[in-house]
Amino acid sequence: MERLKGLILSGGTGTRLRPITYTSAKQLVPVANKPVLYYGIEALAAAGIDEIGIIISPETGGEIRKAAGDGDRFGVSITYIEQEAPLGLAHAVLTGEPFLGESPFVMYLGDNLLRDGVTELVSTFRSEEPDALILLTPVNDPENYGVAELDGSNRVARLVEKPQNPSSNLALVGVYMFTPSVFDAARAIEPSGRGELEITDAIQHLVDGGQRVDPHIVHGWWKDTGQVQDMLEANHLILDDLEERIDGELIDSRVEGRVVVEPGARLERATVRGPAIIGADAVLQDAYIGPYTAIGPSVRIESAEVEYSIVLEGSSIRDLEGRIEASLVGKNVAISHSPAMPRAYRFVVGDNAEIEIL
Ligand code: G1P
Repeated sequence: MERLKGLILSGGTGTRLRPITYTSAKQLVPVANKPVLYYGIEALAAAGIDEIGIIISPETGGEIRKAAGDGDRFGVSITYIEQEAPLGLAHAVLTGEPFLGESPFVMYLGDNLLRDGVTELVSTFRSEEPDALILLTPVNDPENYGVAELDGSNRVARLVEKPQNPSSNLALVGVYMFTPSVFDAARAIEPSGRGELEITDAIQHLVDGGQRVDPHIVHGWWKDTGQVQDMLEANHLILDDLEERIDGELIDSRVEGRVVVEPGARLERATVRGPAIIGADAVLQDAYIGPYTAIGPSVRIESAEVEYSIVLEGSSIRDLEGRIEASLVGKNVAISHSPAMPRAYRFVVGDNAEIEIL
């Protein structure tokens, strides 16, 4: 089989992650202090794919280019391809056609995270040589995904995008392997009810045309980080594999369990219970950071407690009596409070906000 290329989809408007995505692309929201998009690039690089096209939107493309650059730091070469409007995943594939040419390719949705990466799948695709290979995983809410039905011999029989009455619990994971036959399929289909050219319909078209579409069931965890709850769960899952490393400064402070404290961070009278990561140049004073928390670079937490949350770069949280939990706090947010108030807070706060609890 020819060399595989990679196609990462990093457009879209991220409506389900507002307000964070008003100011930032959803693929750049950090999980364990690293943009979601980087995990995808690294997964492709690890599978030996070194030519990657990234589909970007006019709105957030500049930001994505700036973040991922020419790919040098990942050991790959990145080509940016603008999709003028979010007209669907199959439309994105067609937008990528000039870049992909005759190469088979892996398509990776830029907001997806797969624990086990794609290395094994790529080698299965290479050795089995099907026309397409799709990844499936059992979920509790198949109606929110593309859903696949397998036949008696475990071949893909039918695919439906977000069915109201799902006929199986097997959801399409946002990683697909294709040969160039997908282009004709994408050209043959009509836009769906939501006005998009669905990749699910293009794959169904391949099946209908007698092409071989192999399923692969994913057993390791998979997350589509499209919503706040998913983001927090992804943060949890990634932090679970954290290796302890303390490069910052600890003054009268205690860290327990798997904790990373990046260089330049300063902890004063602080307790961090891992798994947790404290970003570079962050300051924790008289603070408690609980499990599954990612504190971004240059964040200040003073006289406050934060647990199971993501706090992005440059934000500050001061003088809270209660504990912040299950929250996603954007960049450069200031949260402060004077007199004693409730025992727990939950926030989803966009970038540059200022919150004072009176
Ligand atoms: C897309 C696909 C869907 C797939 C999902 C995986 O959905 O259309 O088939 O199951 O990604 O993340 P979207 O996130 O565009 O709603």
